[in-house]
Amino acid sequence: MTPSLTRRLKRMAGLENHDRTSSGAMILAVAAQKGGVGKTTTAVNMATAAARYHELRTLLVDLDGQGHVARALASQYENGEPVSLSDILLGHGRDLSEIVHATRIENLYVTPSDKGLAATEGILAGRIGKEFLLRTAMRKARDRFDLIVLDCPPNLGNLTLNALSAADACLVPCDMSVLALSGVADLLTVVETIQERLGHGIRLAGILPTRVDRRNRKVTEAVMSGLEDTYGGLVCATSIPVNSSLARAQMEGVSVFDFDEKSKGALAYRDLTAEVIDKMRSMNPEPGR
Ligand SMILES: Nc1ncnc2c1ncn2[C@@H]1O[C@H](COP(=O)(O)OP(=O)(O)O)[C@@H](O)[C@H]1O
Ligand SMILES: [Mg+2]
Repeated sequence: MTPSLTRRLKRMAGLENHDRTSSGAMILAVAAQKGGVGKTTTAVNMATAAARYHELRTLLVDLDGQGHVARALASQYENGEPVSLSDILLGHGRDLSEIVHATRIENLYVTPSDKGLAATEGILAGRIGKEFLLRTAMRKARDRFDLIVLDCPPNLGNLTLNALSAADACLVPCDMSVLALSGVADLLTVVETIQERLGHGIRLAGILPTRVDRRNRKVTEAVMSGLEDTYGGLVCATSIPVNSSLARAQMEGVSVFDFDEKSKGALAYRDLTAEVIDKMRSMNPEPGR
């Protein structure tokens, strides 16, 4: 690693210029440029673990118009909200807390899926201050929760920009493919731009190796050593194995903890949640409320 890269990465991790002072919920964006790397699986299971095992009042926000969060938690809540996330983002003075749904899991709340989000993405492009619409719309919600998890769409468009501009920290899932590895660099460049040009002190909660399959040794080792060599200590200590319980839980509309609490996937997401919460708390001298 070059000294300048090391400095850049340290700054992203929040190891320099410690300046988060705002109170209210910790906000975590789960973002990656590529689809299928495990963003939704990570957001859903981390939010559930935070609510269930850490008793944090947690809100999971679905920023991807494909409705994958709703499907992943289908049996846990009813999705029939007349007001959409698009209405909130485009309507002046509206707040995300207007569309919060309780789930059957204690302490876990979600926003409904919104098929109109892809169109909203285009409309946002013409708005002044477009990067901060979500942050403004989360003001009240922030006071009502301890943790807000933002599940981002698979691109670096306006909705992901809004998520990163609202978040205290960003978690970047990377599956064991060369494409995902190069996507990490693109995302980190956006994070840096947000820090420097928009003056928003977002930190990197970590790069999360996902779908790690030790049987597929060559590619897995190449991607893992690529991550370690380039990003060193920013790679999460926990990695997520390929585990069929994760995919099957999603199909059945429950979290992996409700599907098979003892599965490798459940154990990994439990460890990851503890790791990320610890990290976010250490970035912020006054975590939660
Ligand atoms: N670790 C894993 N092991 C097995 N299947 C997984 C794992 N992570 C995700 N999946 C499955 O892969 C698909 C894509 O994952 P998803 O979380 O929806 O990705 P993204 O939100 O990044 O597009 C889903 O069907 C999901 O169930
Ligand atoms: Mg997704």
